[in-house]
Amino acid sequence: MRSSPFLVLFNSLVSALPQVAFPFNSQVPTLAREDQAYAFQLASTTFVSDDGSALVYSLASAPAWLNLDSATRTLYGKPGQGNTGPNVFKIVATADDGSVAMDCTLVVASNSAPALVGNISADLARTGPLSGPTTLLLQPSSAFAITFSNNLFGDSDTIQSYYATMADRTPLPSWLKFDSSSLTFWGMTPVLVMGSQTYEVDFIASDVAGFAGATTTFNLLISSNQLAFHPQTENFTVTPGEPIILGPFINQLRINSGQVTISQMQKVVAETPDWLSFQNSTLKLEGTPLHNFESKSVSITVTDTYGDTAVKNIFLHTTNASLFNDEVGNQTATAGKPFAYTFGQLVLTQSATSLSVDVGSASWLQYDASKRKLQGIPPTTSKASANIITVTASSGSQSETQIFYINLKAAAALDFDLLFLDHSLAHETQR
Ligand SMILES: *[C@@H]1O[C@H](CO)[C@@H](O)[C@H](O)[C@H]1NC(C)=O
Ligand SMILES: *[C@@H]1O[C@H](CO)[C@@H](O)[C@H](O)[C@H]1NC(C)=O
Ligand SMILES: *[C@@H]1O[C@H](CO)[C@@H](O)[C@H](O)[C@H]1NC(C)=O
Ligand SMILES: *[C@@H]1O[C@H](CO)[C@@H](O)[C@H](O)[C@H]1NC(C)=O
Ligand SMILES: *[C@@H]1O[C@H](CO)[C@@H](O)[C@H](O)[C@H]1NC(C)=O
Repeated sequence: MRSSPFLVLFNSLVSALPQVAFPFNSQVPTLAREDQAYAFQLASTTFVSDDGSALVYSLASAPAWLNLDSATRTLYGKPGQGNTGPNVFKIVATADDGSVAMDCTLVVASNSAPALVGNISADLARTGPLSGPTTLLLQPSSAFAITFSNNLFGDSDTIQSYYATMADRTPLPSWLKFDSSSLTFWGMTPVLVMGSQTYEVDFIASDVAGFAGATTTFNLLISSNQLAFHPQTENFTVTPGEPIILGPFINQLRINSGQVTISQMQKVVAETPDWLSFQNSTLKLEGTPLHNFESKSVSITVTDTYGDTAVKNIFLHTTNASLFNDEVGNQTATAGKPFAYTFGQLVLTQSATSLSVDVGSASWLQYDASKRKLQGIPPTTSKASANIITVTASSGSQSETQIFYINLKAAAALDFDLLFLDHSLAHETQR
């Protein structure tokens, strides 16, 4: 293009005046509501002045309830009942050598605003890994699609339209498309030369077309770095009461297939039960699962100095360690003679918090749970019998059963044996 000194002079004269670059009503401004405080910050690109001189903002022919803070470009105020409907006014930007006025319309509604009710994180997580609660990690130069639940902003009947803008209310970049009928953001992420880039997106539900009823913000983090644990998920079997060491997992953390160094780790967060201690330099977990331990998942999240995030998920399965150390084994009782048996530490583990006993048909037996003692005197007239006893040990929701027999001997047979024994002993002594 040819240029002449005259044209240059002409251009600089014109551009010294501020100009409207991004009209208020293109910014999907927040809707005002009767009797509710209102605030909306104008995009920094609303007005431009090429010579870079500071602009001062003011209102003209505005309703009395509306104010404008020039320093922060924020419209604010509290409309009353008489203000419902379209409120028309001008925003004036003034530079040293002139000013420009922009026509604006702001609707004041009497109905209540829609609100975010869904879980934006859960919706984002369906597309890919999150590097923060509302930050979706995307690879550069790759196709993506994020579909939000249609009840994200509550009853979809009250919503007239959906809009998407960047967080400063400027239009989405050309690589990011939004389909308002399916609530889908899609496109092809840009090429990155290095490092990473975050795009902050405003997702807007509107009950009055052209205005924002409810706004939620999410981030797209486009990163050429691939920070990841290999493997990402692991299962371990742990036994309550037995110490374990898990990791160090730093050896599994790679950035672009190279080993991550400690200096590249900016933030390390582990979500672990209290009994597991965590070493954030090596990503090692160490501890002894409690006796009532049941299966649990643990996670380690590492953020690198480029803002990339990797999560290691660890699932701890418990082997329900036996509540018994040993078999009780068969016991012998004699008709007419006291019998007693105590379930001691040789038989029960410490984790067995309670023990119940079913004596079956041996009604002469009593079980004292406080002493864990089984006792009684079988009637003298009892015949020899095998009595099955069932013991159940439990700990929390875990329980375990074992059986043993009390083999009962009849009185007569035993008396005869003893007499015989006594005789022979006496005989021997006399000799
Ligand atoms: C939202 O979803 C995320 C990811 O699925 C989950 O971690 C979080 O607990 C959910 N939040 C609520 C409030 O349900
Ligand atoms: C880990 O355990 C979970 C839950 O039992 C199971 O779904 C998963 O397949 C296991 N993963 C591996 C790698 O063994
Ligand atoms: C590791 O833990 C120490 C002590 O709590 C803390 O000062 C440090 O910032 C942590 N390092 C990382 C990478 O999170
Ligand atoms: C225990 O006693 C029962 C019933 O008398 C018997 O059948 C079983 O063989 C005995 N077990 C042992 C190990 O002695
Ligand atoms: C551990 O015991 C509980 C309760 O008895 C049971 O639900 C669970 O399946 C057991 N787990 C294993 C691995 O045996």
